[in-house]
Amino acid sequence: LEIGVKREAQVFLVGAGPGDPELLTLKAHRLIQEADVVVYDRLVSDAILDLVPAGTAKIYAGKATKCRAMPQDEINELLAKVAQAGHRVVRLKGGDPYTFGRGSEEAEHLARCGIAFEVVPGITSASGCSAAAGIPLTHRGLASGVTLVTGHARDDRSLDLDWHRLADPDQTLAVYMGLAMLPKISAELIAAGLAPSTPAAAIASGTTAKQRVCIGTLTDLAERARAQDLQPPVLILIGRVVGLSAVLAPTATAEAHDAEERRHVAI
Ligand SMILES: C[S@@+](CC[C@H](N)C(=O)[O-])C[C@H]1O[C@@H](n2cnc3c(N)ncnc32)[C@H](O)[C@@H]1O
Repeated sequence: LEIGVKREAQVFLVGAGPGDPELLTLKAHRLIQEADVVVYDRLVSDAILDLVPAGTAKIYAGKATKCRAMPQDEINELLAKVAQAGHRVVRLKGGDPYTFGRGSEEAEHLARCGIAFEVVPGITSASGCSAAAGIPLTHRGLASGVTLVTGHARDDRSLDLDWHRLADPDQTLAVYMGLAMLPKISAELIAAGLAPSTPAAAIASGTTAKQRVCIGTLTDLAERARAQDLQPPVLILIGRVVGLSAVLAPTATAEAHDAEERRHVAI
């Protein structure tokens, strides 16, 4: 019995943030340097993997073959096995481990096996994309709250969300894994009463060098994203706050600044 005895964590479930390595926490960075083994996801950016020391074992737990992801129970067992062999494991996950990351399932398995673990939060993609695209998640007078949902479904019928609760013009909706279902999501929200003109954005590979931002409305965002051939990972933001990107997006700020400079020069 180990009541009151704090065992040293062997597995660290670490959030790697949305992609920009400078958005890693200091703790994540330190643990990556100290790990014996790093087990990483498809969504962990190359720039972050470059920070793993050359001598550290790296195990990819994303897509095992072209279309088959490593099943969750295999990942759970892998983590337990490597830790039980006495290695210090960093399980590196995109964004935050406890936000649509299945980190809690891994934690449950480790707890069941009696393996000590620690969760290190990361910047979730809603926060990262929000900042990178100049779209605040909340804003006085525009959005009094934000709801994070998954748009992932095996088929059309299983995307079973409470559309009436989500169709709230005073809230921002952040949809993870929603690109494929975007036409359905938009149609459901409109049917539930959200104005078709509600601003909406799709942010692909937010905070990375490949970031692309597509802005539209609930009516046309799916078509715009398709026309621009946006590729996952994509985060969708829906709500009046999206309108602020025209002023707050880093490029918009630079343009506004340039225009201001030109105005001063002209004076
Ligand atoms: C399995 S979920 C993992 C979420 C992650 N745990 C987090 O906190 O961001 C994968 C989804 O996260 C979103 N995502 C992750 N990284 C992203 C990025 N850099 N840009 C846009 N969306 C991202 C996308 O919606 C993607 O389909």
